[in-house]
Amino acid sequence: MTQIPRCFNPPRKTRPRQSDHPIERWLAEFGPMHLEFSDPQAEALAELMPLLSCGEQSAQLVFQQAADESADQQSQLALNEVEFDEARHDIALTWVQEQLPWLKVSRQAQRRAQVFYARLGRIEEAQQQFARIASLDASVTQIMKAMRGSELGSQHPFSILCNLIMRDEAKHVYVARHQAQRLNASAELLHEQGQLIRQQLWQMLAHHGHAFEALGVDLDTIHNKVVNS
Ligand SMILES: [Fe+2]
Ligand SMILES: [Fe+2]
Repeated sequence: MTQIPRCFNPPRKTRPRQSDHPIERWLAEFGPMHLEFSDPQAEALAELMPLLSCGEQSAQLVFQQAADESADQQSQLALNEVEFDEARHDIALTWVQEQLPWLKVSRQAQRRAQVFYARLGRIEEAQQQFARIASLDASVTQIMKAMRGSELGSQHPFSILCNLIMRDEAKHVYVARHQAQRLNASAELLHEQGQLIRQQLWQMLAHHGHAFEALGVDLDTIHNKVVNS
């Protein structure tokens, strides 16, 4: 098993076990297995995985902090729920990563993702931050949708995981947008911050375009969804 360096510190709280959560079920079903990848697939995924797992790790911290600061109990619950979803995504993706090599390109991708997400985490205006997260999670939904259609095939455990993460991210878009609106973000601000983060996201992804293509994931589709949506 490969030792994977974390992108960001783990959050202080431990995620409650929820055995009926689809990701927990995925972990229980596939956790004992060894995942099958061809060498080129393993190399491509070794490069792309840090881009995904860094986002999950950063999101846990952002949502934890927002939940801690929220005075409204209902929002606090919703924010914590997202935090725990992200923790499950992180655990599942890290488990996949442990079965892949850790290459020079993995380190480079992780560094790039760390810079991207650290910048997002440092935004002081919470309404801006949540406006960007809503847009980012909408893009992650599209990326996961594209990745579940990779040449691994829809029945591969990784494709199944992408599908489950995609569904959770769609819920996060709603929670993040609601949080931004609660903080008085206007439609204009949501639009403008969304565009900004999607441009930056695309710049990061484009560096790793060959790895998407190597997995049979169409980069043009991702570009259209991320930049033009
Ligand atoms: Fe996530
Ligand atoms: Fe998310």
